[in-house]
Amino acid sequence: MSNAINDKLTGSPNAIVEEWEEFLKERYPENAPARQNGDKKAEQLRNYENTARPTVREFYRQNHRHQTYDFVRQKRREFLGLNRRAMGIWEAMDFLNTLVDDSDPDTDLSQMDHLLQTAEQIRRDGHPRWFILTGFIHDLGKILCLFGEPQWAVVGDTFPVGAAFSDKIVFSKFFGDNPDSQNPRYNARLGVYDENCGLDNVCLSWGHDEYLYNVVKDYMPKPALYMIRYHSFYPWHREGQYDYLTSNDDREMLKWVQAFNPYDLYTKSAERPNFKELQPFYEDLVREFFPPVLKW
Ligand SMILES: [Fe+2]
Repeated sequence: MSNAINDKLTGSPNAIVEEWEEFLKERYPENAPARQNGDKKAEQLRNYENTARPTVREFYRQNHRHQTYDFVRQKRREFLGLNRRAMGIWEAMDFLNTLVDDSDPDTDLSQMDHLLQTAEQIRRDGHPRWFILTGFIHDLGKILCLFGEPQWAVVGDTFPVGAAFSDKIVFSKFFGDNPDSQNPRYNARLGVYDENCGLDNVCLSWGHDEYLYNVVKDYMPKPALYMIRYHSFYPWHREGQYDYLTSNDDREMLKWVQAFNPYDLYTKSAERPNFKELQPFYEDLVREFFPPVLKW
């Protein structure tokens, strides 16, 4: 690995976060439909892999190698006790804002600016208040970066662990380095799961989605929780994979996850939202759903 790539993966905690999101936009251009299982597109996926930047490729290599069933279960034990901090949504937002991207000199927008752009587009489209709030908070789990977690354990497309890796996951060839792909307990179609056991019973690769879901799960309506928990689960909501692990409930909720995805991908812009103007609306919104302090 070159020094420059290594610096990005271990240095500025936000460098890969931004590059991963750019790569998602290349793979899923605006107005491209979600795929059904069986759609032919392996070749196209390989093309995106071939043209991906070296940092993005190296990021996926590490992600796919290290996200094992045991790793995910250990991270869940480590973080989901939520005993790191007690803070409100606004304090978490300030904390997230300390994550800056010094790889991109064109933009000095903060993480909250991007979240406001997402939320404001949802609001302009006339969606309910809980949907707007979901847009505003959905990436707060990226504070995992600030707890010293490596970027491949914070962002990246998520996928089930403990069962066979789908070849429709981007850079699936890197799963060859993942010990689970050699383990007969984990490399079968169902692995450790039962047919249609429901996603709530499935361990996805560890990252910011599952973490934030656990922080907010008592306070938001079910479609919001699905959006938060599965917004990076591209193999499911964009590639039509893993239907055999889902319940009827999950299938019912998939449409909400898909409704959220365009706001996640296509609302970033260089224009800074006017926070002073927007602040009263968002303070009311946060107060409507959340207590003053949450466990993180
Ligand atoms: Fe995210």
